[in-house]
Amino acid sequence: MTTQYVGQPVSRVDGRQKTTGAATYAAEFEQTNVAHAAILRSTVASGRLTVDTSLAERAPGVIAVLTHRNAPKLPYRPHKGAVDPEMDERLHVLQDDRVTHQGQPIGLVVAQTVEQAIHAVSLVRVTYRPEAAITDVARAQVVMPTQQKTDQGEKRPPQTGRGDAQAALASADVKVDQRYVIPRENHNPIEMHATIAAWDGDRLTLWDKSQWVNNVAEEIAAVFGVPPENVRVVSPFVGGAFGSGLRTWPHVTLAALGARVAKRPVKVMLTRREMYYGVGYRPHTVQRVAIGASKDGRLTALIHDGHQETSTYEEYSEALVNASRFLHSCPNVYTRQRIARMNIHTPTYMRAPGECSGVFALECGMDELAVALKIDPVELRVRNEPAQDEFKRLPFSSRATRECYRVAAERFGWSRRTSSPRSMRDGRWLIGWGMATATYPMNYAPASAMARLLPDGTADVMSASSDMGPGTWTSMTQVAAETLGLPIENVRFHLGDTRLPKAPVHGGSMTMASVGSAVQAACRKARDDALGQAGGTDLAEAIRRIGKPIEVSADVKPGDEGKRFSMHAFGAVFVEVAVDPDLGETRVRRIVGAYGAGRVVNPKTARSQCIGGMIGGIGMALMEHTVVDLRNGRVVNANLAEYAVPVLADTPQVMDLTFVEENDPNVNPLGVKGLGEIAMVGVAPAIANAVYHATGKRIRELPITPDKLL
Ligand code: MOS
Repeated sequence: MTTQYVGQPVSRVDGRQKTTGAATYAAEFEQTNVAHAAILRSTVASGRLTVDTSLAERAPGVIAVLTHRNAPKLPYRPHKGAVDPEMDERLHVLQDDRVTHQGQPIGLVVAQTVEQAIHAVSLVRVTYRPEAAITDVARAQVVMPTQQKTDQGEKRPPQTGRGDAQAALASADVKVDQRYVIPRENHNPIEMHATIAAWDGDRLTLWDKSQWVNNVAEEIAAVFGVPPENVRVVSPFVGGAFGSGLRTWPHVTLAALGARVAKRPVKVMLTRREMYYGVGYRPHTVQRVAIGASKDGRLTALIHDGHQETSTYEEYSEALVNASRFLHSCPNVYTRQRIARMNIHTPTYMRAPGECSGVFALECGMDELAVALKIDPVELRVRNEPAQDEFKRLPFSSRATRECYRVAAERFGWSRRTSSPRSMRDGRWLIGWGMATATYPMNYAPASAMARLLPDGTADVMSASSDMGPGTWTSMTQVAAETLGLPIENVRFHLGDTRLPKAPVHGGSMTMASVGSAVQAACRKARDDALGQAGGTDLAEAIRRIGKPIEVSADVKPGDEGKRFSMHAFGAVFVEVAVDPDLGETRVRRIVGAYGAGRVVNPKTARSQCIGGMIGGIGMALMEHTVVDLRNGRVVNANLAEYAVPVLADTPQVMDLTFVEENDPNVNPLGVKGLGEIAMVGVAPAIANAVYHATGKRIRELPITPDKLL
């Protein structure tokens, strides 16, 4: 494969549209005669409710007030997308008088204007018969999941072991055994979730903010009992999501319900406050990591035991302890993952779900062990490099950890680090240097694409994928132009519409691998077809001679490579922090990351992805904390004034990135491993480890706020 475009830093093909405001987001698909809806949400965590809507119904501009008393009964046929918890059932909206969590949708007002809808919501009188609720994870019962979840098509056992970790820990020369806590965190994309719904008979169109249009169509079809082909979902632009757009949340159903009752298009847009109740969140986790080692720094025991919050109505769990099974070599390993069911809404995937939280605990534990052993943290990891995946007992398809440590350490200047805490200073600032290992699975799912070659020498290439920010529009255009052998400006890529060939969820860092491979396959076939018909090697010339469009579709799916290889991206993250000894403020000064993530299709958008992940990691380490009122499950800081996220002033001057060259044809046809999520893994533990090095204080409960350092 020549690489005229693949591997080149092509600027975003949709950059002009985005920067000039020409890009259309879900709430901006203006419909004639659109009505606006606002959602009424419960203010208790559990109980039964009665409503009096008489005042609201008489309010100006009100078209309909829907509650469980008058909302149409919906079929809610069975439907599970890959992003839905396998156990239990999604929230059924407005179908009965039961409240299971704070912020549950219990009513919908449709009105002429959004202000009228919001006003009328305030006029609905709700009376609750509260019931006992569990809203504090410390009081919740922690249980084993009832079913094994699937990761990469494989079962994820809630409990695994090799050797005897308990005994090995008891007899270890050196050991650490600690508890790490990460609070709930919420996705805060700039664009709030929004849906416009319009019915035409029993056909429905949804303009929706989504990371998976195909699943939205299938789910809403199941909810309303119409054939999936009757539902079209359009979502060309997504203003950030980080996982909040993976599932089809209740407001999508409410928009369709409102439109059906009002008999006109209805728009629902969540407020920033509603983002904390309406679209899931990264669950609060509590983890024990215990590591034992011999004096020479070889791991002899590893126990990683964690649990996370979930709702009463769905059993959500994520890959919290997975990485501990293979990241470092150790003969005696025990992992367990449990859940705590509570009167809260269901959490969901948030950037690097599971790995981000689990690797935080593991990599802080490794740093604590390095201190106990008096061994350099990088050296400790190098001494425990596994020859293969010791959990699956399979070779890694590729694993660039050593190279990542070497490159990142060198670029960071790690050899100049003095090992004792509080030994490095810059004026009055305490300087700390810390590091961590990163990993994220290579995910590759079935995908389809179509290429249409036109006699004018241009091509339309398409797949129903999304682009929530990584640059999918651009990278797919690159793959298509490269494969077709056409100038990139003559290739148009189309996504975000269920009318296009089916794509998997735009999540799990799998889009480049999956949709990219499908695009490559479709373009290869189209080129072969055209050249086969017309001869020659110049595709534009061939299609001109053929004189009519050529359309070719292709489907790709993983083969048996997962049975032969353990497939993951790996990386190393090094961080410099400065801590103000009087104020306890932590500033991240430098982040240096090196990643082995397979082929990098576009180093410019890849770099942008990684910078975003690093900044996300700063938020996780130092700021983000959804404060839940433990008495009633209410989110106390459901706004961007009090839920702190990093802003430009919080980003380091130096964010240095290296993509270690990796040629891994085994993972998928394109040889890519995905970058969206590994970029965030490892950042928070590297920061926590740097804070320890700066201050001598080991903070095991995120976020590391000044009060914890004083
Ligand atoms: Mo990502 S949490 O799979 O959008």
